[in-house]
Amino acid sequence: MKIVALMGSPRKNSNTDVLVDEMIRGAEENGHIVTKYCIGDLVVSPCRACGTCISGRDCVLDDDGLRVTHEIAESDALVLATPIYFGQMTGALKVLVDRFFGITNNPFINLDGKVALIFTHLGPRGYYDSYIDLTVVQPFRMNMHYDLLDIVDVGDLGNVYNQPDKLVEAYNVGKKF
Ligand SMILES: Cc1cc2nc3c(=O)[nH]c(=O)nc-3n(C[C@H](O)[C@H](O)[C@H](O)COP(=O)(O)O)c2cc1C
Repeated sequence: MKIVALMGSPRKNSNTDVLVDEMIRGAEENGHIVTKYCIGDLVVSPCRACGTCISGRDCVLDDDGLRVTHEIAESDALVLATPIYFGQMTGALKVLVDRFFGITNNPFINLDGKVALIFTHLGPRGYYDSYIDLTVVQPFRMNMHYDLLDIVDVGDLGNVYNQPDKLVEAYNVGKKF
């Protein structure tokens, strides 16, 4: 299975990044091929709502957003991982998620697959459940018709190494792909 992993923290080796790597480790041990993208390495312009994708053509924005969204469309599964910033995913990751429009609206692209999500935050466990539920519904259920594999929600977070159970959880979700 081909899997794309989007790491939405601007910080490498951060809490989110470490959890993503654990999930990837589990998936790779099961023979899956994972391509990881760190949001800070990507140049992604915001969707212009020009509608070009709706007419079945490629997004006019020829950048990493185009390349990564096409790779997602050609893959079987996605890992979406983000710290919570002011109650939501990071702004940089949201810019890329908005560019999913280019694949979800193109009538020549059939999307299906699995998604696993990772959220990290300082709030108590479960504090952002309503936002997390909404993120599963849209884009993943409503626009992409993806099956939810699992969610790793890591709250109360200073340093992820203080929550080794969550590292194991991420690894075990990777094993489920
Ligand atoms: C700009 C910014 C906004 C944040 N907003 C929230 C928030 O609304 N709720 C929360 O629980 N934590 C918030 N945090 C804390 C991060 O979600 C938390 O430290 C997370 O684990 C950081 O992920 P990283 O280590 O992968 O970068 C915020 C951090 C930053 C830098």
